[in-house]
Amino acid sequence: MSVGYERWQGPVADAADPLLALCRSIFPDFTDSYLLDRLPRLTDPMLWLAVEGGEWQGFKLGYRRGGDMLYSWLGGVTPELRGRGVAAELMRRQHADAAACGYRLVETRTRAANNPMIVLNLRQGFHVAGFETDARGIPVVIQRKELASPQA
Ligand SMILES: CC(C)(COP(=O)(O)OP(=O)(O)OC[C@H]1O[C@@H](n2cnc3c(N)ncnc32)[C@H](O)[C@@H]1OP(=O)(O)O)[C@@H](O)C(=O)NCCC(=O)NCCS
Repeated sequence: MSVGYERWQGPVADAADPLLALCRSIFPDFTDSYLLDRLPRLTDPMLWLAVEGGEWQGFKLGYRRGGDMLYSWLGGVTPELRGRGVAAELMRRQHADAAACGYRLVETRTRAANNPMIVLNLRQGFHVAGFETDARGIPVVIQRKELASPQA
């Protein structure tokens, strides 16, 4: 079955239930409030979905931080579909969409131990922009990518 990609068009709060179900299947020990508390407060949320056979199988969720930066907050692909280029395609679409919306920069934070995500970001043109320890004492890598202008 082929995977389709679409941007969520409605208010992002309306996506809360299916998104929560997806997060639970992607992240081990997912804390519901991590998503539900922040979802209604995101500025200019941009949600991209990977859909197979009508089922949500992957997502990429970003929002505006500052005038020209999209913060790519959360994303992932269900374990069954990993290794098939789904996350890479979601990211390509997010970046093209962001550039078309006038964003100049994408930033993301990833736990330092998460090699798959850090490698994927590097292969999609991100650079390492910093390192920090989050509120729970977990080391985190900050990565940034400058977007090509849509006219270029
Ligand atoms: C990280 C994640 C999104 C990758 O999804 P995916 O659809 O399997 O990734 P893709 O198939 O698009 O891989 C694209 C590239 O990423 C890199 N990559 C992906 N998985 C990797 C792994 N396990 N180890 C090393 N590199 C990896 C590779 O460079 C790969 O390209 P290649 O296949 O040509 O070598 C997926 O593993 C996931 O959902 N993990 C759990 C959620 C998560 O950690 N999210 C990030 C924090 S919010």
